[in-house]
Amino acid sequence: MTRRALIAGNWKMNMLRAGGEALAAALTSGIKPGASADLLVCPPATLLAPVSAVLADSSVALGAQDCHMNEAGAHTGDISAAMIKDLGAAYVIVGHSERRADHAESDVIVRAKAAAVLAAGLTPIICVGETEAERDAGEAETIVGKQIRGSVPEAAAEDTIVIAYEPVWAIGTGRTPTVDDIAAMHAHMRQVAGNVLGGADKLRLLYGGSVKPGNAVEILALEDVDGALVGGASLKAEDFLAIAAAAP
Ligand code: 13P
Repeated sequence: MTRRALIAGNWKMNMLRAGGEALAAALTSGIKPGASADLLVCPPATLLAPVSAVLADSSVALGAQDCHMNEAGAHTGDISAAMIKDLGAAYVIVGHSERRADHAESDVIVRAKAAAVLAAGLTPIICVGETEAERDAGEAETIVGKQIRGSVPEAAAEDTIVIAYEPVWAIGTGRTPTVDDIAAMHAHMRQVAGNVLGGADKLRLLYGGSVKPGNAVEILALEDVDGALVGGASLKAEDFLAIAAAAP
């Protein structure tokens, strides 16, 4: 089963308009024709519209970093999946560990958000990952399995969602699990997700956490790794394009 790689950039709370437009433009001009990976950028909500305009007619896709679980209503400051779709986006990241930590998002909330993304006709990128204490206690696979079972919505199918494994201790730290640990976790994730979804051959599983041009080749070569969710290195066009070029 060959799954097409997805290289996703999570800009987090970075970039003002000029910088975001310039970064998006550099990606559209730098992406190689016939590239083996799909490219996706997830700017902050304020930049979805201007970045969407820059990406129009390019092969680089647009996504958001979060959305509300409801379709519309009295939720001051929030945005819905339909609003995100309206700006030309195709993906929404849900359940990033920074949202799970900063906004107390539980699996139940993440699942409802992922369901809202699917209902709007978009693809959720559902994030899971253990803390350092959980890994040290030998609980990483148990925790990630529980997060997958708790966060994947009923309506999901193997080709309508993406799951990203982001060990919390590897995010923004320059540290990564060994390739053997990543391979073992992704194999475990495909097994758990396969049970939940009734199959996972088509499911794209991303690795995220300190992915750089220097480690992308060995990580992306792993059989059950179908792409990367990139934070810091996605803010530099050269680095992000180098990671995309590392996809087999
Ligand atoms: P870094 O690539 O900066 O470690 O961030 C990873 C991440 O959280 C992507 O969502």
